[in-house]
Amino acid sequence: MTAFGVLQPALAADGKALLEAKCKVCHLPDDNGVQRRIGYQRKTPEGWLMTIARMQIMHGLEISDDDRRTLVKYLADTQGLAPAEAEGLRYAMERRLNTIEEFDTQSKEMCGRCHSPSRFALQRRTAKEWEHLVHFHLGQWPSLEYQAMSRDRDWLELALKEMVPTLAERYGLDDPAWSKWQQERPAPTALVGRWSFSGHMPTRGDLHGVMSVEGGEGDNFRISLDGRYADGKPFKGKGSAILFTGHEWRANVEIDGVAMRQVFSVVNGEMKGRMFETEHDERGLDFVAAKSDQARLLAVQPEFLKAGEEAELTLVGSGLSGKPDFGPGVQLVKVLEQSPERLVVKVRAAADAAPGSREVKLGKLSGPSLAVYKRIDEVKVVPGYAIARIGDNGGATPKVQGRFEAEGWATDAAGKAYRVGILPASWSVESFNERAAEDEDVKFAGVMQKDGVFLPGDAGPNPARRMSTNNAGNLKVIAEVEDGGQTLKGEGQLIVTVQRWNNPPLP
Ligand code: HEC
Ligand code: HEC
Repeated sequence: MTAFGVLQPALAADGKALLEAKCKVCHLPDDNGVQRRIGYQRKTPEGWLMTIARMQIMHGLEISDDDRRTLVKYLADTQGLAPAEAEGLRYAMERRLNTIEEFDTQSKEMCGRCHSPSRFALQRRTAKEWEHLVHFHLGQWPSLEYQAMSRDRDWLELALKEMVPTLAERYGLDDPAWSKWQQERPAPTALVGRWSFSGHMPTRGDLHGVMSVEGGEGDNFRISLDGRYADGKPFKGKGSAILFTGHEWRANVEIDGVAMRQVFSVVNGEMKGRMFETEHDERGLDFVAAKSDQARLLAVQPEFLKAGEEAELTLVGSGLSGKPDFGPGVQLVKVLEQSPERLVVKVRAAADAAPGSREVKLGKLSGPSLAVYKRIDEVKVVPGYAIARIGDNGGATPKVQGRFEAEGWATDAAGKAYRVGILPASWSVESFNERAAEDEDVKFAGVMQKDGVFLPGDAGPNPARRMSTNNAGNLKVIAEVEDGGQTLKGEGQLIVTVQRWNNPPLP
């Protein structure tokens, strides 16, 4: 059972009582009647889970898994983050561990050297609470002052005098977005029904289908997915979901025998986020869905069309009706299939259709864009910088694969580069630098497969390597794309490194 299993409705009502029973011994109410520390912060379900787990591990709190679940739910509901507050930071909950984060240098050096800065950017606290957090860090890990990016400065002084005011200003406890969300958040029953979804799984392709949501009592749902990949292979499964804070959707589903997690935010009849394998969070897909009572155009698959060619396009959404408009130069040849959730059409792009990214329209609906191109000018490897990890070989930690795609880019009439989409490519790896060549990283670090999936080497020392080192490596990832008689090459970097021993819910 994972940390966020199914919660019994009766238990949800016990949250408040549990908080008293389990936490009050150490967290007495203050003069305002608020439980000290606990009452002055807000965070995500994952954030609350980590705090309570720390109470268990470091402070001797004893609590059953069920009670902990009830408390995480209660705290995330009453002291969570509004959708707007978590925006731009969802990658941390969605476990997109190759994200290159953008924070100011001071936050990165002072706080982001041990964990992702999203850990604090996904919290809201009073200034006093940010201050307590700094003291807790130093008290708990006194050696932090002697580590790199600390011993060169007065860390505590800077943390208290500079970071605390910055954090209190950026991530203060009271935020109009939170009060607004508390008024607006819909009843869970509003989520019950049919959801049309579109997705893209790197190295596997586009997919679409319908997710049925039932239940809703106590914010618990039963769900079933019925979809398929562009090549027709089914994507089907069942599971259960739980809604935190009125929008944080977490589900466990089994898709074709594989356990997967859904981490979405649901707002205004739209669900968005990432779905990934529970045991291999690097294998996942971007997911967006719209409820059947909403008219919405979610995606066009594939998202590009070559000038002078004919192709089949699938429009995915909900409440779809009428004929799509792809703009000048792209002619609708035939409607092959039409339902409120899916529209399959045959289109033809004129040889002189203007290259560029254009908005697809269907009646009043729009949103997704279609890239019309004559030729590909550039190929980018995505992600451009990635980490894979050695593993298995008798150890408890599985390998973490690298998964790459080749993204084509073209140039429009104004000379502006635009994204065409994901193109088929041939894949290979080379030594990233001389050092990697000398150590024969290409030979030891793993194998690049035909589909852009890199399988890292086994964990543990390798007697065949210099000084019996492990199978780590520094590689150049190369994608070659054929387009109109030319071969274009894109390059990325892959660091193959050791296991992620400490793998908490928020990086
Ligand atoms: C045995 C004593 C003990 C119990 C029981 C306990 N805590 Fe704590 N708690 C602490 C201590 C000590 C700290 C300060 C150090 C720290 O943050 O780890 C703390 C800090 C906190 C903080 C502030 C953390 C931060 O990052 O600033 C929160 C929130 C919290 N506790 C929640 C809880 C909840 C919820 C429970 C009940 C499920 C609980 N605690 C039970 C001892 C306890
Ligand atoms: C020496 C490494 C290190 C540095 C530097 C560091 N942290 Fe942490 N931080 C940790 C660890 C380890 C935890 C995990 C505690 C746990 O297991 O809950 C943590 C937890 C946290 C949490 C979650 C606490 C909770 O229970 O809600 C926040 C927020 C946080 N850090 C913010 C910061 C900020 C802000 C800074 C800079 C002022 C900072 N950290 C600097 C190691 C560090």
